[in-house]
Amino acid sequence: MNESVEVAVTRSLPPQYSRVDAAEAVERAWTFPSDWYTDPLIFEREQERIFEREWQYVGPESRLPKPGSYFTTKVGRLPVVVVRQKNGELAAHLNVCPHRGNIVAHDCGERRVFQCGYHGWTFDLDGTLRAAPRSDRETDFDTSDVRLRPLKVEAWGPLIFVNADLDAQPLSATLGGLADLVKERGFDLYSHPLRASRQFEIKCNWKVTLDNNTECYHCQTVHPGFSKEYHVDADNYQITAFPKSFTHLSPKHEESDATSWDDFHINYLWPNFMVSARGNEYFYTYSYVPVDANTTMQYNDYFFPESYSESDVEQAISDIGQIMREDWGIFEQVQIGLRSGMLAHGRLMPDNEQLLRQFQRLVIDALEP
Ligand code: FES
Ligand SMILES: [Fe+2]
Repeated sequence: MNESVEVAVTRSLPPQYSRVDAAEAVERAWTFPSDWYTDPLIFEREQERIFEREWQYVGPESRLPKPGSYFTTKVGRLPVVVVRQKNGELAAHLNVCPHRGNIVAHDCGERRVFQCGYHGWTFDLDGTLRAAPRSDRETDFDTSDVRLRPLKVEAWGPLIFVNADLDAQPLSATLGGLADLVKERGFDLYSHPLRASRQFEIKCNWKVTLDNNTECYHCQTVHPGFSKEYHVDADNYQITAFPKSFTHLSPKHEESDATSWDDFHINYLWPNFMVSARGNEYFYTYSYVPVDANTTMQYNDYFFPESYSESDVEQAISDIGQIMREDWGIFEQVQIGLRSGMLAHGRLMPDNEQLLRQFQRLVIDALEP
């Protein structure tokens, strides 16, 4: 008779392997349910309740130097055109023709009017319909209220944000005390011009990217180069949080060779925007734009001094890219882990990951009925 070998197995799983409500999970310092990172229905709800109601960065004012200057972009799933009007003020419109839904403006440039390429309707820069061919032959067709759908538009310094919710609170309500704090620290958003923009596709849910950027608990393991130059330990790493924004500060190692580098700042604005600054040496923005539940586009605008040559710019972007690549590798592995469907919740460290909990609360507040 064969002798049976006893193997120690866990017959009852730890509780985090069973799904609980999102609010309950946050109370326990667990991550919200893993299916929130993979479910297309959650993705749809996020589009409606977050990306169509909150402020989204679209670009710097320098992209609109004179009346008629415009650029197009995507805000969540919304095609958007941002334009400097004849009176010099900024405007943003849904870039969708109110006739039959065609995209009206393309790329960027300068226009006196926008003309839809399908049936030729033209719109003034303020979005109102100027002309619709053959409308004069219609007997019952009132064009007085036909226009491109407006979006709210505001700026933080030179950075333009839009909001599809016309009843939204002003951008200052999202910024909270962040704008004053970075000013007190001597960080000047006007200090450098836009020198380059890049975009990258990442195979993960947009929340995986923000979960990561709320904490530097991962910095020691994922970013060894960065950690040699900046403090990332709990005693030196500084966090200041406001209800919908926060800032991290990694002080420079005194013994670091990189003497031209100052402290490193990451400033976050709910829901998906960050501006990272290496002291006043240079800064760059991030927008994480969800494409579907498992795909995110990362858009970066890089602001460097005029004194940087083109090759200096490329070198700095490549250096920054090293840190980004280290994070992307993790994001895509995390997404695979979450898609396994077997881990109902992650277990957070309440102190080291306090801002992650704050971010998750904002998501839950937006999504829960
Ligand atoms: S869809 Fe724009 S003019 Fe017809
Ligand atoms: Fe990172």
